[in-house]
Amino acid sequence: MTSHCDRASKSSRLEQAREYEERFSGNIRQDERPVFHLPARIGWMNDPNGFSFYGGRYHLFYQYYPYDSKWGRMHWGHAASDDMLHWDFLPCALAPGEDYDNGLGCFSGSAVALPDGRHMLMYTGVSDAGQREDGTRTQHQVQCLAFGDGVDYEKYAGNPVIDGSQLPEGLSTEHFRDPKLWQEDDGTYACVIGALDKEANLGRILRFTSQDGLAWSFAGILAENDGSTGAMWECPDTFELDGKQVLLVSPQDMIAEGNEFMSGNGTLCLVGHIDERTGALVPETRHAIDYGIDFYATQTLLAPDGRRIMVAWMQNWDTISMADHKSWFGMMTLPRELSVRDGRLYQRPIRELDALRHDRVAYEGIKFGGELALEGISGRMADIQLTVRRADDEPYQEFAMWFAEGDGFHSSLRFSPDEQILKINRKHSGLRRAVVYHRKCDVTNYDGTLRLRVILDRFSVEVFVGDGEQTLSMTIPTNPSADAITFFAEGKVVMDIEKYDLSDVGVVPVESDC
Ligand code: FRU
Repeated sequence: MTSHCDRASKSSRLEQAREYEERFSGNIRQDERPVFHLPARIGWMNDPNGFSFYGGRYHLFYQYYPYDSKWGRMHWGHAASDDMLHWDFLPCALAPGEDYDNGLGCFSGSAVALPDGRHMLMYTGVSDAGQREDGTRTQHQVQCLAFGDGVDYEKYAGNPVIDGSQLPEGLSTEHFRDPKLWQEDDGTYACVIGALDKEANLGRILRFTSQDGLAWSFAGILAENDGSTGAMWECPDTFELDGKQVLLVSPQDMIAEGNEFMSGNGTLCLVGHIDERTGALVPETRHAIDYGIDFYATQTLLAPDGRRIMVAWMQNWDTISMADHKSWFGMMTLPRELSVRDGRLYQRPIRELDALRHDRVAYEGIKFGGELALEGISGRMADIQLTVRRADDEPYQEFAMWFAEGDGFHSSLRFSPDEQILKINRKHSGLRRAVVYHRKCDVTNYDGTLRLRVILDRFSVEVFVGDGEQTLSMTIPTNPSADAITFFAEGKVVMDIEKYDLSDVGVVPVESDC
């Protein structure tokens, strides 16, 4: 039986986290943070969790360790917003403390708004499962619920609601995580969870269903990694969009494949249809979700107006050694509206961003070769749209844009029309660690005009190619005073450019009641 003392120490973990963030997060200067991307309130952030619309606002939770800018026992941080751009920090929502989450903590999960007015969170509880023969620790992962009112959440007394006993033969209880939950039209509940086949060392995405959200049963395998995309598949999310079934996952241990998949922790989008007989996804096409450096662990929500909106952790496990000199680390990407066309996922920044634009500067039909700087085209919080085409009389070999430039630093985008490859590079952005600094992608729909939308927010850049058929996300440590933008062309190009500054709205902490 749980004694009073035990209970007090369990709940005090949450109180301790709340007190800590309340006490110290105010010391982080607003100008050290992004403006319209959600960062960790303090300490460490990874995956987006519980991205949902509840009580008239968007809620975004995140994997959180308040006490250090490095990963630690997982809590859930929490923020809410009316437009997914201006975020109010709310008190830490979950802290480890029960037998089933007292090891590595409260891992990733999701949320739904219940018809009775409560907000239901489903997360992976990770407990310590003893020592292996080689001395390393093993863990046990189960799925748990918590109910709340948008600020305070209480773990369900019947936890865990899904455990290893419900797993098909051969799947590991050590790697069974990241439930993505939704409510079906008929009022029942469903979720997908990532699991690892021990023998094959390959990810499986399992479906579970429930009448009431509390009692869950295994309902089949939605998808299986055939070995071509990494090992374990983390953070699954699935939904129907534009007549197709989409599955998003974040595979670990990827091996590079052309310009499509990079080695390490990557992302994968499968587009296909459901086999009505087996309930399994029949993939028709597959591709990476993002081609930049910092992008992992996507999660989507269905907005009240019907838009399917995705966020991701704008970081990557292969890059996190950059974390060591700040009191916060990790931020989310811009929320992106999704659509599916010709078997491909298209992404565009949420339209709410348009309301932040001001001070338009535009140039049309600028013909140039060599180097070009344009009056009024600079900044580190900016929304820049450009089109680049060859001048009638001359082909060109390369077009480049340097941004976050100054004090000897810059980052760049480079496009080669012959190869139809776009490259992103942060080698000279002021990195102090030997992390990945460049990536490239094939521009698949190139018709002679390169179209880019480039969104800058102090410490990041997100590039949307064409109609959003490719995106590249990247963080940069460069001091925001380096705000010049310069263009280069080898040969001659004609460029149209439209640039807006984006408002400095700040992230306003909300008073917590502890
Ligand atoms: C993905 C991930 C998840 C897990 C969480 C732990 O980035 O590894 O699978 O739930 O992070 O923080």
